[in-house]
Amino acid sequence: MKKDTCTFINNRNNKSYEFKILDANRGPSVIDISSFYKKTGMFTFDVGYTSTASCKSAITFIDGEKGELRYRGIAIEELAENHSYLETCFLLLYGLLPTEKQLLSFDLELRHRSFIDENLKTLIGAFPDTAHPMSILSSSVTALASFYYEHLDIKNDEECFEMATRIIAKIPTLAAFAYRKSLGVPFIYPDIDKSFTENFLYMLRAYPGGKMKRTVDGNDEIRAIEIKALDTIFTLHADHEQNASTTTVRTVASTGAHPYVAISAGISALWGRAHGGANESVIAQLEMIGDVSNVDAFIERAKDPHDDFRLMGFGHRVYKNFDPRAKALKKLQDELKDELKLDSKLMQIAERIEEIALKDDYFVSRNLYPNIDFYSGVILTALRIERPMFTAIFVIGRTVGWITQLMEFRADPASKITRPRQLYVGK
Ligand code: SDX
Repeated sequence: MKKDTCTFINNRNNKSYEFKILDANRGPSVIDISSFYKKTGMFTFDVGYTSTASCKSAITFIDGEKGELRYRGIAIEELAENHSYLETCFLLLYGLLPTEKQLLSFDLELRHRSFIDENLKTLIGAFPDTAHPMSILSSSVTALASFYYEHLDIKNDEECFEMATRIIAKIPTLAAFAYRKSLGVPFIYPDIDKSFTENFLYMLRAYPGGKMKRTVDGNDEIRAIEIKALDTIFTLHADHEQNASTTTVRTVASTGAHPYVAISAGISALWGRAHGGANESVIAQLEMIGDVSNVDAFIERAKDPHDDFRLMGFGHRVYKNFDPRAKALKKLQDELKDELKLDSKLMQIAERIEEIALKDDYFVSRNLYPNIDFYSGVILTALRIERPMFTAIFVIGRTVGWITQLMEFRADPASKITRPRQLYVGK
């Protein structure tokens, strides 16, 4: 019979304490240490929570050793290959893939909710043209809380899902407006005749009046292959368990703050270059390396403990194998390189980095593999999405994950306000 407790012995006083072991449906079991301080008078210590589970969750599963990622039990490869981003959003929110009718109504609801209040447009217009899209996004999502204050105290499931679909629908519009603001050109309103992803590209690219630039062969400027590529990128970014920005969202939600300011906090956390901001830094780094012949020197810098240079897009707290999303993006890159004319020079540099790093003991011994951010930038560049918008693309994909995790937190009766302790080393 499997024992469901473990014993902690304090060798200073020879006292022993029992703690329950809770088993997962997939992956590692946990030791419930919620009574640890009460029983032992000591705290546990885990900087960055490398070995700490902060909650129970049924949304996303990652096996870092195997390089496995599942949304509601479905493998990311299956979703990226055979389902749209909207189907993935529905799956995350409701726990099941939608029927054709459910998908149609979900799609329509997002289209109807994709517009924003004109006063919010004025707020975005007040930013300097040099403002980073992530700064505009986090500010305008916070401002959304002023327009939907009734979402602060959500009474029932229906209202909760309305709150969730509203933010999923509006983020692409806010991101596109932030981009147009940086160009100093008029904003393009959403077109409810267009799908989620096509509409986003349309709001980025259309001319005033919503006209698309006709190409010489008379084709519409937004190609199906571009829509499919970006839709896959959104799917790959949709959720990722308790990462830094999701933990931020749950922490802000745990104080009872408005759901949209929790999402705004998640956007701010994602902006960091150690997290979602890495996709922007990867391209900057590839351009800085400049040529395949310089790669070896930069690899040595990345290995030098006295040099704070790190290979952006490499390494991950959880994956100690290939990030399955990186694999999916690499596959997408190979499929698209001729069609989308991917930047072969940047790709060659990236491939050379990968080739060396995957054999070099420094990286192998630390299980450092390419992560999702290593490949996304080359495809986004080919989609003519400018680098300051890369992390905003990550936000569009991830918003459904954040809001689903927030709803799970609020629905869990065991949820508490986040309030860790410390090891005091002061006077
Ligand atoms: C995302 O958590 C998520 O799920 C995030 C994400 C999501 O979907 O939400 O997957 C998205 O954020 C992907 C990661 C994007 N960030 C980067 O690509 C930035 C570069 N990578 C690193 O900064 C780093 O790898 C982290 C932040 C991703 C992970 O850091 P950890 O887990 O805290 O690991 P660590 O810093 O303790 O590193 C362990 C060792 C150290 O060497 P030693 O002290 O043992 O000698 O590995 C080294 C580090 O110096 N190391 C690197 C490195 N990453 C780690 N050395 C060179 N280049 C790197 N990129």
